[in-house]
Amino acid sequence: MEVLMRTMFQSLGKNHSMNKLAKRYGLRMGAARFVAGDSIESAINTCRELNAAGKVATLDHLGEFVYTKEEAAESTDMCVQTLHAIAHSNVNSNLSLKMTSLGLDISKELCMDNMRKILEVAKMHGIFVRIDMEDYAHCQQSLDIYKELRKDYDNVGIVIQAYLYRTQQDIKDLNQYQANLRLVKGAYKESPEVAFPAKKDVDENLKEIIKMHLENGNYTAVASHDEAMIDYTKELVKKLNIPKDQFEFQMLYGICVDLQDKLIKEGYKVRVYVPYGVDWFGYFMRRLAERPANVWFVLKNFVK
Ligand code: FDA
Repeated sequence: MEVLMRTMFQSLGKNHSMNKLAKRYGLRMGAARFVAGDSIESAINTCRELNAAGKVATLDHLGEFVYTKEEAAESTDMCVQTLHAIAHSNVNSNLSLKMTSLGLDISKELCMDNMRKILEVAKMHGIFVRIDMEDYAHCQQSLDIYKELRKDYDNVGIVIQAYLYRTQQDIKDLNQYQANLRLVKGAYKESPEVAFPAKKDVDENLKEIIKMHLENGNYTAVASHDEAMIDYTKELVKKLNIPKDQFEFQMLYGICVDLQDKLIKEGYKVRVYVPYGVDWFGYFMRRLAERPANVWFVLKNFVK
């Protein structure tokens, strides 16, 4: 049953018509639990609240299904506006973005040009920009873009997904770039030809790549709500004598807030991923797929 629901939500998240429909109706079905509103102002307010609680943030202007140059330019402009808003409001936040939202499905060159515009503004404001990792079909191209940009920019990082078989090799390759990586389990529906189908294998691989990347001396963001993974990281950094400024924990807005607070009390750096914007449907479906028990929120919001 759980596997069926997971597959259903993952497929719904990729459904263009559902995404378009949801855009018109504002945050519904309990999505406000995971999305910090539809405007930059609401996102900045959320950052202020998080900063006041001792946490830092990374803002993501939600945008999926970008198929024209104009849509990619609009998305780029929203990222630039978000960077200005972060700088002018003085909140402590990075920016996260997706290569498809900057036009990767149109051409790699267009996406690179848009990324350079964003990275120039980010550099001017001293803000770090993280490339989110999307489905397997975009993985190699996203990494190629990262590697090219990394030659010119220090303020760019990327995400690596533990569910892919290729991941340990990627960690080895990225060492020469001294890559600042966010390490995650992986959120998309992938075939067993490219990704571990069993959760226990994904968990083991995440542990392994956390260790590899830290031992290589690189900055590591462990992005997981899995308490066992967090405990593993805490023990590992102690054992390897990793300084506190070489790693951080990351969690998604609205998820495991008590655990975030506990880590803050213990003196760890916690960054919260704060998505905002009208294009919330795909993101929301991925959150439901991760934990079908979240469906109760949807049902409660229908009944309300
Ligand atoms: P796991 O799925 O094992 O969950 C552990 C526990 O966490 C659950 O038992 C539950 O208590 C809680 N939990 C997890 N997900 C929940 C949810 N949706 N709602 C409520 N509780 C939940 N993926 C990707 O492919 N590309 C990317 O760029 C990113 N970026 C990213 C940034 C950040 C900051 C985070 C935290 C995660 C991502 N992800 C991602 C998503 C990631 O790949 C993964 O799907 C989720 O983090 C869920 O996996 P966990 O590691 O939390 O463990």
